[in-house]
Amino acid sequence: MLLCDKVGLITGAGSGIGRATALTFARDGAKVVVVDYHLEWAEETAGLIRQAGGESLVIRANVASETDVQDMMSRAVAHFGRVDCVSNNAAFGGGFAPLPDVEEKNWQRCLDVTLKGIWLCMKYQIPQMLKQGGGSIVNIASLSGVRGEANQAPYSAAKGGVIALTRTAAAENAQRKIRVNAINPGGIRTPAILDYFARVPGAEERTAAVHAMRRLGEPEEVADAVAYLCSDRASFITGAVLDVDGGIMVNPHTL
Ligand SMILES: NC(=O)c1ccc[n+]([C@@H]2O[C@H](COP(=O)([O-])OP(=O)(O)OC[C@H]3O[C@@H](n4cnc5c(N)ncnc54)[C@H](O)[C@@H]3O)[C@@H](O)[C@H]2O)c1
Repeated sequence: MLLCDKVGLITGAGSGIGRATALTFARDGAKVVVVDYHLEWAEETAGLIRQAGGESLVIRANVASETDVQDMMSRAVAHFGRVDCVSNNAAFGGGFAPLPDVEEKNWQRCLDVTLKGIWLCMKYQIPQMLKQGGGSIVNIASLSGVRGEANQAPYSAAKGGVIALTRTAAAENAQRKIRVNAINPGGIRTPAILDYFARVPGAEERTAAVHAMRRLGEPEEVADAVAYLCSDRASFITGAVLDVDGGIMVNPHTL
């Protein structure tokens, strides 16, 4: 029970890594605020938490909207009294196109959800955590934000920004009992990537091959890392960017 008596909040908790994180938080003893743009997906996650004997609150919010994020935090605190552990996970991919072909509306929407959304969430989470005496935030970034990604300029730029924002928030709050870290997942078996595999023949095998482990990750493998970083067991970790990637960043070949 890593998160016994804590209150967790996860954005984008209606699917994939966010849903797995919500279920993992509940299994680890937390009460969970399940946030998603798609209300019915969030309600499905809450149903799974309920079936497992956990407690949750569903909130529909668009993380790119300041009024939605403000309302999300007010309702979470009104219901559970505090928010200890957060995973800012919601993102919008921005499509696949070479940089000159990216349409401005895709650039804008990707940056609004994936980068501005993380800033807005922390803008309202940090003051609440200061008021209650501490907390822990884990932002979901991506390796694309570290090494770039062909045909994903807006997404890579936004995720690079998420890493910079994470380190900035960690620096500002290190002496105020608020820890802020990020996770770079590798290829994780979620609806978003499965949809891509269904459309592009051979993509699943090629994606598995870039991991030293030669397989994709499961959403629960990222969720476990989020729960650990949110827990008191990670009490001396802040400003870290943890790759949960089956070894994408190491060379699996010998000379
Ligand atoms: N799956 C992967 O291989 C992978 C790899 C690297 C990084 N990531 C990152 O992990 C996170 C989760 O990815 P996933 O694959 O589970 O995605 P997913 O598409 O399965 O789920 C994303 C969830 O976010 C919600 N959402 C989207 N826009 C929102 C908004 N504006 N406000 C609130 N909710 C919103 C969606 O409704 C959905 O439920 C994302 O930040 C993604 O960039 C995923």
